[in-house]
Amino acid sequence: MNKTIIPHKFYIETYGCQMNQADSDALANKLQTHNFLKTSEPDDADFLIINTCAVRQHAEDKVYSRIGVFNKTYKGSKKIIVLGCLAQAEKKQLKKKHPAVDFVIGTYHLSDIVNILQKEQTIATSFNQYNFLESVPEEKFSFKAKIDISHGCNNFCSYCIVPYVRGREISRSSKDILKNIQRLVQTGVVEIMLLGQNVNSYGQDTKDISFPELLYKISTIEGLKRIRFLTSHPKDFSDELIDVIFSSDKISKYIHLPLQSGSDTVLKKMRRSYTFEHYKSIVDKIRKKDPTTALTTDIMVGFHGEGEKEYQETLDAIKTIQFDDVYMFKYSKRKMTNAFSLEETISEEEKSLRLQNLINIQREISLEQRKKLIGRTVEVLVEEPSKLNQNKMKARTDTNFVVIVPSKNKKIGHFYNITLSSIKGQTLIGKEES
Ligand code: 5AD
Ligand code: SF4
Repeated sequence: MNKTIIPHKFYIETYGCQMNQADSDALANKLQTHNFLKTSEPDDADFLIINTCAVRQHAEDKVYSRIGVFNKTYKGSKKIIVLGCLAQAEKKQLKKKHPAVDFVIGTYHLSDIVNILQKEQTIATSFNQYNFLESVPEEKFSFKAKIDISHGCNNFCSYCIVPYVRGREISRSSKDILKNIQRLVQTGVVEIMLLGQNVNSYGQDTKDISFPELLYKISTIEGLKRIRFLTSHPKDFSDELIDVIFSSDKISKYIHLPLQSGSDTVLKKMRRSYTFEHYKSIVDKIRKKDPTTALTTDIMVGFHGEGEKEYQETLDAIKTIQFDDVYMFKYSKRKMTNAFSLEETISEEEKSLRLQNLINIQREISLEQRKKLIGRTVEVLVEEPSKLNQNKMKARTDTNFVVIVPSKNKKIGHFYNITLSSIKGQTLIGKEES
């Protein structure tokens, strides 16, 4: 007689960056291959998994409030698992703050999730051997995948918790990466996103090939149509990399290059190892190759030593560069970091005012940048039906702009040439190429 094994059900919620999203997809896949079933409702699950972020106080607060809700609603009836960056930062403190949490799983233990969940309770936050998870197609978009090419960071920017919670930079072997991408392509993946805290220093720890060499090799994989990568560091963004990016149509002309501040004094305090002039010289080289390359950045306001003058330098910088998009944040103190012990020099109110003003200025710039694209014909990859209009689809350009396109004769996961005809809010609208 066949014995029926009732599978455990899990629910997973993800906070934070693209790497966390990639980790959650890979974890879900791993659990599913070990007879766990994924549910989209916490009510249906036996295991409630929260993949956490600790990069800013706000991210931490959100996670704690979510743990609070789970604790109140499901204490004793379901297992609560907190994993990722906040789990690593808090370690056993997390269980002290929330005794209902059953598992605290740090960033080095994700690949061991199946064994861990078979126990009653665990706190696994040591840094030992790091094993990369197999990258799988995105759950929502099966024609795309994200793949970690490295884990951790060696840069120790003075505000940043990442090197403490993800550890030193470890590069995945180029052979493994290439094989994993080939497997993805065989399942129908056409777009890949290479992920690392600083992709530009890939391979330096293992003496493997360099990032430009890796990028080039990936671009030769047949069947793969688009390659993106995140995140770059201006101090390591080489001319060789620029040459490789512009050597292949498959490599996306979308570059996310965090600036953080336009002030050299603040950049020095942040330990970023470049000046605004150096940053600008990279942008000039990129735009000389192709002025339509999309450029985005991260900016943080309210760091130590950011007076009116330094803040103004940041505003000048964004006006000079004219980014397509900027991710903007208020600095928040993180424990373990070099800047943690420094006295805060700017009030929360002032930080908020600076942030809002920056957002307003950048909104105008982003709109102007998008307007320049109107009339151009571009290739888009169709992602999903538009939420607002049944007859439209949401698609994305090589340069990562969202475009709303007519749905007639369009298939998800396929490429089409579209003429950008107008703009609604910040979203581009496309029409059939005539
Ligand atoms: N406070 C606010 N923003 C931060 N970032 C990193 N650390 C902090 C912090 N302590 C921002 C940086 C980084 C992005 C991922 O998050 O801009 O590029
Ligand atoms: Fe943090 Fe700096 Fe590393 Fe980015 S490069 S993860 S900001 S330490």
